[in-house]
Amino acid sequence: MQIGDWQLHAGQHALILGPSGSGKTSFINIVSGLLTPTAGELWVAGEAMSQLPPAGRDALRRRTIGLVFQTLRLIPALSVIGNLALAQQLALGRTDAAEIARLIDRVGLSHRADARPRQLSQGEGQRAAIARALCTKPRLLVADEPTSALDDSNAERMIDLMFEAADATAATLLIATHDGRIAHRFANRLDLAAPQAVAA
Ligand SMILES: Nc1ncnc2c1ncn2[C@@H]1O[C@H](COP(=O)(O)OP(=O)(O)O)[C@@H](O)[C@H]1O
Ligand SMILES: [Mg+2]
Repeated sequence: MQIGDWQLHAGQHALILGPSGSGKTSFINIVSGLLTPTAGELWVAGEAMSQLPPAGRDALRRRTIGLVFQTLRLIPALSVIGNLALAQQLALGRTDAAEIARLIDRVGLSHRADARPRQLSQGEGQRAAIARALCTKPRLLVADEPTSALDDSNAERMIDLMFEAADATAATLLIATHDGRIAHRFANRLDLAAPQAVAA
């Protein structure tokens, strides 16, 4: 995968759009410091993420990024509240019960606040994962395929929710998707090409 100079300014919303296998998740993982690029540089919040050692990347991610994984990765043994509390404890060194309750209400999961992830529907799990990503007030909110499992109206609501949540804290928003339904919501887009076919 090759990307030229690309910059996302603080507070902007951007979409990485491309078909399956085009490198969206790899790109998200590089932005989040979970993978290191083999070439080029990546700067996040004024720091050279790609040049930091692993512990430095972890610290920068914890301080500045809220991540919504494609596979959600909620902690199965913890309730929705417990998942948010753990994220706050790790990122901030403290928990904020009022903020957790506010966010869980904001994503429409108040009635499921004590549920374990396996008791949630896919859409509920996605909303829980978004609340978890937001509960540390990240400067950069990153989501991988947040709408792919949702029907049209819920996909629109998910994007509304992420725009509102990002704007409420002046966070930057970066979404990766193959879901063309949401493309029209973003003025700022990075289109990734389909992977090259392997010769038979
Ligand atoms: N851990 C990995 N090791 C090697 N190749 C990988 C790994 N993860 C993904 N890939 C490959 O990198 C390419 C891009 O994958 P990915 O970033 O998951 O794309 P997308 O999210 O757009 O579907 C694919 O060809 C995939 O098979
Ligand atoms: Mg992917």
